[in-house]
Amino acid sequence: MIYVLGSINKDISVEVEQLPKKGETVIADSCESGLGGKGANQAVAIARLGGDRSGRKPAVKFIGHVGKDLAGEELLQKLAEFGVDTEFVSKVNRPTGTAIVTISGKDNRIMVYSGANSGITKSDVDEALNYATENDTLLCQLEVPLYIVAYALRKARSIGMTTILNPAPAKTLPDDLYYNVDIIVPNETETKILTGINPTDSASQNAAIEKFHAFGVPYVVITLGARGAAISDGARLAAHIPACKTSVVDTTGAGDTFVGALALTYPHIGMYSFKEACTFATRAAALSVSRRGASESIPTFDEVCKFYCKDI
Ligand code: ATP
Ligand code: RIB
Repeated sequence: MIYVLGSINKDISVEVEQLPKKGETVIADSCESGLGGKGANQAVAIARLGGDRSGRKPAVKFIGHVGKDLAGEELLQKLAEFGVDTEFVSKVNRPTGTAIVTISGKDNRIMVYSGANSGITKSDVDEALNYATENDTLLCQLEVPLYIVAYALRKARSIGMTTILNPAPAKTLPDDLYYNVDIIVPNETETKILTGINPTDSASQNAAIEKFHAFGVPYVVITLGARGAAISDGARLAAHIPACKTSVVDTTGAGDTFVGALALTYPHIGMYSFKEACTFATRAAALSVSRRGASESIPTFDEVCKFYCKDI
């Protein structure tokens, strides 16, 4: 079982040729809304990528909040349709989280109103992890309160679960939080904020990776956008996984697709090595980049195999 603790947002994505300057109004080329939130996207990635292979949906349980409003109702339904177990998602008296996504060419900019996501409590975590075992995984991001993430990671560690942290959006983290993380997956910006090192070339990537190891994290994956990912298991393996060539339509959720794919294939399925799981994640993320939307752009396992049929 993979437990995802995180955010559920209504994404309002607006595509413009040029972002407006201060005081300027521009007319958008398109405006769409859909299921987003880093937590929701990563849970959907696990469900979509795990579902088609066996014909059954994988067990992914979401821990989170939506508002008692129409958006909350719709997003909850979408999550369930994608195959995510929403038993531990509560409807609360705050507005559902909302993200305004502006897309211009290959760039996106995102503003998030946390709303219901900011009210997740320790008892939500306790209730959800009540039956969790050492065979299970906890996956977190930082779009819900940091003290709840720290609490959940500590609890998961005490159960013996595998813990994965995507430290997005980046915040300074307390030192002791790192000790409860098995796999950390930051992007370039997050790496710079957390380690003070801008991972622009292999020397700086290795230096940043070493910092994360020194913080106490055994497995590190720095995602590098169109340049792929730098990975290390802290022992025998340090490698660069190149990104797959693709036509970029919308990069929103690329990182989430990567993280969900990695959480599914390593360590949950256990059939892939760490490097193979990162290669699979790179392929899934490339497909998501070639499509519009956040959760809607995430491919199935069969789609990944169809586009990248070479063995891993
Ligand atoms: P986002 O916030 O846009 O969801 P992110 O900043 O969290 O993404 P990135 O490092 O930009 O994460 O991208 C995650 C992964 O997605 C990369 O490691 C890469 O495998 C894939 N990816 C991203 N951009 C591209 C691209 N232009 N072409 C191919 N693959 C890409
Ligand atoms: O990572 C992409 C996500 O970030 C979007 O879906 C948006 O909701 C924000 O949380």
